Amino acid sequence: CGIVGYIGTRDCANVLLEGLSMLEYRGYDSAGVSIFEGDCVRTIKSQGRLADLKAKMEKEGIPAGHCGIGHTRWATHGVPSDVNSHPHCGNKVSVVHNGIIENYTEIKEFLLSKGYSFDSQTDTETVAKLLDYNYQGDPFAAIQNTLRQIRGSYALGILFYDCPDKLFAVRKESPLIVGLGEGENFIASDIPAILKYTRNYYLLEENEVATLTKEGITVCDLDGAPIQKELLTATWDIAAAEKGGFPHFMLKEIFEQPAALQNTVSPRVKDGHIDLAIPLTESQLAGFKQIHIVACGTAMHAGIVGKYLIEKLARTPVNVDVASEFRYRDPILDKDDLVVIISQSGETADTLAAMRLAKQRGAHTLAVVNVVGSSIAREADSVLYTWAGPEIAVASTKAYTVQLSIMYLLAFKLAACKGTIDAAQEADYVAQLCAIPQLLEKVLETSSRYEELAKQYMHAEDMFFIGRGLDYALSQEGSLKLKEISYIHSEAYAAGELKHGTISLITDDMPVIALGTQQRLLEKMVSNIKEVKARGANVLFICYEGYEGADEFADNVIYLPLSSDIFAPLASIIPLQLFAYYISSLKGCDVDKPRNLAKSVTVE
Ligand code: G6P
Repeated sequence: CGIVGYIGTRDCANVLLEGLSMLEYRGYDSAGVSIFEGDCVRTIKSQGRLADLKAKMEKEGIPAGHCGIGHTRWATHGVPSDVNSHPHCGNKVSVVHNGIIENYTEIKEFLLSKGYSFDSQTDTETVAKLLDYNYQGDPFAAIQNTLRQIRGSYALGILFYDCPDKLFAVRKESPLIVGLGEGENFIASDIPAILKYTRNYYLLEENEVATLTKEGITVCDLDGAPIQKELLTATWDIAAAEKGGFPHFMLKEIFEQPAALQNTVSPRVKDGHIDLAIPLTESQLAGFKQIHIVACGTAMHAGIVGKYLIEKLARTPVNVDVASEFRYRDPILDKDDLVVIISQSGETADTLAAMRLAKQRGAHTLAVVNVVGSSIAREADSVLYTWAGPEIAVASTKAYTVQLSIMYLLAFKLAACKGTIDAAQEADYVAQLCAIPQLLEKVLETSSRYEELAKQYMHAEDMFFIGRGLDYALSQEGSLKLKEISYIHSEAYAAGELKHGTISLITDDMPVIALGTQQRLLEKMVSNIKEVKARGANVLFICYEGYEGADEFADNVIYLPLSSDIFAPLASIIPLQLFAYYISSLKGCDVDKPRNLAKSVTVE
């Protein structure tokens, strides 16, 4: 979910709606605002997109005021509906919430016994009513008592009806920043929501309570002791958070990949060698007995590529796990283990919890994160930032590519420290990695081809993505991209495994996207393609230019500029992203905001 709050002199409704539009990627099944109109708070909320809320506000009359809170929702408790939308109100308060209140049934029963009634099925309404119950004229005391009674994760924006010149905010586990302006102040789940007005912000730590007025911001701990916060400055450019002439953020972000890769790799290369600038010595890096890579979604797919690279080059065993499994599996971990946590947002609840578990068990945690100052980045023992800039489309593209680039740097560095590659090999790999952005530019030049291919394949109901080795790792991300934004069911399969059951699904209605960039495995891959072709599949084959004979068994061939086996994923992901993008766009799907998803999932 996304939260925004404003107090100042501008038209609050406008600031909230603009802020929410920048946060819509965090959830978009309903939205709402509460705004002080004089001394009264008006709350308007609506199921559906922000546009539906806007229409409702126009119909009911846009609240005219200068202080308020807004919310865009990704449903957890209770279906998307007007009544379940935030803000939730008591008689004296209005609340927006991101997170999950774990003991809400208990609190609800308590409040029912005190005569409260409930309109929604949400956990948030219990917080609003508990604040109401606890409020005896002192907002801080009400917040303090309420936080002592609730369990779970939360970022809260709160208005007390008899304090029209104040806005309150507090967080635990879910992200929240406090933006400092001149004569105006803000709260938001993420920086893009306030970038238009200010670059200066504070990061709220766990259970710090912020009180905002027009003139200033004070932050206290739960005992009321004031806290001196460090003022941070956002480096992101507002243009980076806008579409810049592209029809969708996803397409813009696909095209930003060469620059993002360069920004991520080049600061870490010094005289042909890798300098990760993390607090680990070369002998510590060489000494890890085992590596775990833990992440969710696309970030986890970057981890799978990492496993192939690290095991091949550095010969250290690597496990890759989805965070929601890792955290509850009682994983075998000790102080000689390195746990690499990958997350674009740095706020994914399962990933954060997995990292905390690894830390607790004494492993060294290394975070690969895109959002500076996010929870995962702050809590990890070491951080490697990916410099992709803000990624807005829900389907991750450039964040994935830069995560891959970090996997390469890490694999080369570990291998160099262990001596499994020598200095000359390290320099050679680094030079090849530094040349990848130009290669990506070349692949992007052929983007119109994918629109043509998309027309051919967009009516399929199912597809297979197959590959071997690194191509299999890539297939998993290609398949996810397609299904999440085009709603075409697809599966990624290790090409050699297909014959053990799944090949029974192959018919002439089943397109197969086959990757063949791994020279070492090419003959085997071609045999697998012939197997599916013999059963009627329409095959789209991705291989290097110069490979002759592909036309004999493939219906369509994409030729990539020549690269080596090991670097192939960086080039071959682009065709897969563009293929998914154009199919989704031609089908008229909401490319940047696919149904049911959210970009940043801060609940488990
Ligand atoms: C959500 C997004 C995915 C993303 C995953 C992990 O499910 O929809 O695109 O890969 O979270 O997000 P993170 O921010 O931790 O990389």
